[in-house]
Amino acid sequence: MHLVPTILLLSSICHFAVANNGQASVAFRFHNKCPFPVWPAAAPNAGHPVIAAGGFLLLPNRTRRVRSPPTWNGRFWARTGCDFSSSRACQTGDCQGRLACNGTIGTPPATLVSLQEVDSEPSFYDVSLVDGYNLPVSVSTWPAEDKCSIGGCTRDVNSVCPRELQVVHEASGAVVACRSACLAFDLDAFCCRNAYGTPETCRDSVYSRVFKEACPGYFSYAYDAPPPLVNCHAGEYVVTFCPARWGSGHLPL
Ligand SMILES: *[C@@H]1O[C@H](CO)[C@@H](O)[C@H](O)[C@H]1NC(C)=O
Ligand SMILES: *[C@@H]1O[C@H](CO)[C@@H](O)[C@H](O)[C@H]1NC(C)=O
Repeated sequence: MHLVPTILLLSSICHFAVANNGQASVAFRFHNKCPFPVWPAAAPNAGHPVIAAGGFLLLPNRTRRVRSPPTWNGRFWARTGCDFSSSRACQTGDCQGRLACNGTIGTPPATLVSLQEVDSEPSFYDVSLVDGYNLPVSVSTWPAEDKCSIGGCTRDVNSVCPRELQVVHEASGAVVACRSACLAFDLDAFCCRNAYGTPETCRDSVYSRVFKEACPGYFSYAYDAPPPLVNCHAGEYVVTFCPARWGSGHLPL
């Protein structure tokens, strides 16, 4: 749903994009700056292959590079609080209780990085809270360029999440994720559906504004405008979980 604006823009510029035949693959460098382990996951869009088995463990302060074909389209997110020996598996972003998601998408809420690489330049990517938030993510090219970067958040959304959107970990009482209003209430006005299915009729809300204020570079709802879209060409993209610190006490350990 959050990809709709991306696709519209993509189709409008496609016909003058330059073919990029020289490049055999693209690399994603996942970096975990969270003070806790995360389990990054990758789910391809239909017709694209699974990469990195769909998911893996990334300890704090560690980096893992994953390769994809140059035309790969799909999404990334991070799972938190996983224990694959238990039936609950991950506290956020879980994919059927498995370490290797193998192409399946995660259970929302989770901060989503969506990416569309065409066999031409540039690629399109965005970070979306349309399905809610679990942790901050930044995306940039390598080498870094300002116009190709999507920053993280100025605050941890979990710490400012309205009660009716909170996902609370039972054992600790910690807020581990924040649902979008669409996810929490399933109403057309929040989900940009039916009568609200256009940029003119689907507007921001008190809920989407909480997301927008904390994470201005992300989609806070499906027709967020101006859309924080990035279209850049690179052989390597850097996806960083918890790119900045904003105090303590609110993130899961
Ligand atoms: C993270 O890794 C860098 C480089 O290897 C190292 O200098 C730094 O001390 C590490 N930080 C933590 C918190 O482990
Ligand atoms: C991964 O998904 C593919 C395609 O759906 C399937 O053929 C394969 O058996 C799956 N592998 C595992 C380990 O589940």
